[in-house]
Amino acid sequence: LKIHTTRSLRATKIQKGSSPLQMLTCYDFQTAQLLNETEIDLLLVGDSLGNVILGYETTVEVSLEEMIVFSSAVKRGAKNKFVVADLPFGTYSTFESGIENATKLFQRSKAEAIKLEGASEHQLKLIKRLTETGVPIMGHIGLTPQSVHELGGYYVHGKDEKSQEKLLQEAIALEKAGAFCVVLECVKEELSKKISESLSIPTIGIGSGDFTDGQVLVTNDLLHMGKQDPPKFCQPVANFYELKKTAIEKYIEKNKNVNPYNDGKTLNH
Ligand code: KIV
Repeated sequence: LKIHTTRSLRATKIQKGSSPLQMLTCYDFQTAQLLNETEIDLLLVGDSLGNVILGYETTVEVSLEEMIVFSSAVKRGAKNKFVVADLPFGTYSTFESGIENATKLFQRSKAEAIKLEGASEHQLKLIKRLTETGVPIMGHIGLTPQSVHELGGYYVHGKDEKSQEKLLQEAIALEKAGAFCVVLECVKEELSKKISESLSIPTIGIGSGDFTDGQVLVTNDLLHMGKQDPPKFCQPVANFYELKKTAIEKYIEKNKNVNPYNDGKTLNH
């Protein structure tokens, strides 16, 4: 199984004939062990764990300590995978806090890279310094969930010319600042194609069409692990919610009336 590095990842461009990069989110040790045995290229300990693991309403509630706990568990299980950990909301609002917290998350989690959202002057300056000090950075533009309140909701980006130009310039600036890869979340397909063709580093899309250099999905959506249906752009490959529920209900049913004093049967435990 291939073990990626920033060098191998930087060289992955589908227009040049590479296979697309496949990235899935991961939040726990056992799933990390399983994914470690697959051909998955990258694991993302996304702050989406706030939604799917911790039941928060938005990723704004996720803390640095939580990201350290989950990403270090993933790295313990996925020794041979390139693991990316999300820098959570509010931990990089200033240059100094960004350097300190990204470095702390990188060191404590042992992840191979850190992902942070946005590409304004502030983030670009931060990315430049972090990469200069040896912390590989994955960028993330388009729908940036940490800014949901500022953006005014979750929606597709790059619909008008102005926002298309802005996103293209942001992607180019992220590459220039030193990012080794850029996530494009909910970006119109035509634009994500154009961005992917304009960069020499790979793009990884989610809800952004087929022409990015890779795709990322929330594993809990892919396996339909939650009660709610996954977002439209994700076609689940199983329904783990129903599978787990049925299996547990079967177990409960089977043992419901067992009483070794009455019928001599013993519990299935
Ligand atoms: O937090 C996350 O899982 C993410 C992906 C959806 C890109 O940032």
